[in-house]
Amino acid sequence: MTVTSVLLSQTALRHNIEVIRSISGNRKIMFPVKSNAYGHGLKEIVEMSRNLVDFYMVATLDEALYLKSLGVNKPVFIDMPLVTREEIEEAVRNGFRLNLATSFQCNIIEKLPESLRKKMLLHVEIDTGMNRTGFKPYDIENLNQFLLRSKDISVEGVFTHFATGKEDREAVSKQYKLFRNVLKKIKFPYKFIHAENSAVLLTENFKEMDFIRTGITLYGLRPSPLYDIELLRVLSLKSRIVDVKKIKRGEGVSYGFTYIARKDTTIATVPVGYGDGYPRHLSGRGYVLIRGKRVKIIGTICMNHFMVDVSDIKGIGVGEEVVMIGKQGKEEITADELAALVGTINYEIVTRISPLLPRVIVKEEV
Ligand SMILES: Cc1ncc(COP(=O)(O)O)c(C=O)c1O
Repeated sequence: MTVTSVLLSQTALRHNIEVIRSISGNRKIMFPVKSNAYGHGLKEIVEMSRNLVDFYMVATLDEALYLKSLGVNKPVFIDMPLVTREEIEEAVRNGFRLNLATSFQCNIIEKLPESLRKKMLLHVEIDTGMNRTGFKPYDIENLNQFLLRSKDISVEGVFTHFATGKEDREAVSKQYKLFRNVLKKIKFPYKFIHAENSAVLLTENFKEMDFIRTGITLYGLRPSPLYDIELLRVLSLKSRIVDVKKIKRGEGVSYGFTYIARKDTTIATVPVGYGDGYPRHLSGRGYVLIRGKRVKIIGTICMNHFMVDVSDIKGIGVGEEVVMIGKQGKEEITADELAALVGTINYEIVTRISPLLPRVIVKEEV
């Protein structure tokens, strides 16, 4: 048994999917599992959700191929526009849904053999203000012409992506209005429209959209502290103490001796470091849970280890459980808390957890 592992709760994921689906008015869910399922573990999250969602969304062709190798039988949408002929061809041959977002891609598609073009399933992205990917409203006439003369190509969806949520509802509404206007100008046939990420679902809930594309909330995290929704954290990150030692007042701990003991101190070594995706910025300011108590990280976090001050815990020994993210007793450390400590967002905290750490699916909450 590896000492450090990521626990994934089936109960939590199921609960979150039910909550979000009911908020959306039972609309279809396209589940974003890009970037290793937001760091949770793509293989496991897919195994846990296969019968609970309608569509999967990944960022890259490689992720889509990996899903296929896992035997996923739900449609898979590749959200990043593929821009080489080889990638587009491979994606089409495998039945993945492509994001058509640029005229550059149209030029590639135009030259593909008819047999491949017939198999294509496109989701056309409209850039309504995010200014990342997608056709701008002034591109629509050209897009109409391209798709109307390419009758062999099917457009399955038309979608947009929002840049803001609760913090700027006016901007959301502006993007949405623009999306509706663009839809009126579209002359090619399509089946579905989709737009909302978690923040916009929780802010506006555009029920006339066919799909929702909510990621972070399904993992039990909030898009930002502005949202007060009760969800269940899917992931916890745990390890065990591998060494305990007593150090004398005046001794330093870890690289650069950024920590010097002010008194005789008992310290414990935890085999987790920035190599596992645990932020080095938590050096000297983060906490973990041991025996249900908050214990301070001391000194610099190394690639594979960090040390904690356990002077207040009597009889502590090797093998005791350490919680980096999750609950122990009555205490809990959340990805939100770690994000606030290091000046980032909960998305980044979980997404950076190393894919190499073992994932363990459990039924109960974690
Ligand atoms: C195009 C697109 N749709 C949906 C999502 C899901 O967003 P969230 O996890 O905030 O719900 C993302 C996330 O980055 C995205 O890029």
